[in-house]
Amino acid sequence: MNLIKSKKNLVLIGMMGSGKTHLGANLAKKLEYKFYDTDHLIENQTNLKISKIFSDFGEKYFRDLEEKITLDVLRKKNSVISLGGGGYLNHEIRKFIKLSCFTVWLKWDSKTLIDRVKRNKNRPIICNMKNLEIKKLIERRAKIYAQSNIKINCEGKSKKNIINRIIELYEKL
Ligand code: S3P
Repeated sequence: MNLIKSKKNLVLIGMMGSGKTHLGANLAKKLEYKFYDTDHLIENQTNLKISKIFSDFGEKYFRDLEEKITLDVLRKKNSVISLGGGGYLNHEIRKFIKLSCFTVWLKWDSKTLIDRVKRNKNRPIICNMKNLEIKKLIERRAKIYAQSNIKINCEGKSKKNIINRIIELYEKL
């Protein structure tokens, strides 16, 4: 019988542009975990860019794929998983994560997020939105992201500092 119980997976959530992929990959390296990014998994499995999935098949198709692929990857062990910005809004995904994962919300000021996402054209959800609409979306989502286990106020912190803080809190588990 294997008595070594593995820790919960570490899941990063937050808006587009909050650095989930980059920080997640670094965290996985430090923890010697595997790293998964749900958007990359979706792109690899469909052989299509996220923007192409949205434009050719619509958001509902993307969200259904996102749910299936995310619920599958969350079942792996010893992993850091970066969720697409809309993943945690899905009821089934959130329910599963609350039961079995350690969630970290990477929180940034709206202004920082808007400046970042505006520079990237590969973001179908916000590409036609005005800044005020994006701000409202960020505020609406913040209420759901706030259900995470911990929130890191990233503004003004270095990447190293954010990573070390997350590891410190995760290791207390
Ligand atoms: C989305 C965020 C994106 C991607 C898709 C939808 C969202 O992921 O899943 O464009 O609804 O916030 P990132 O947060 O990794 O950019």
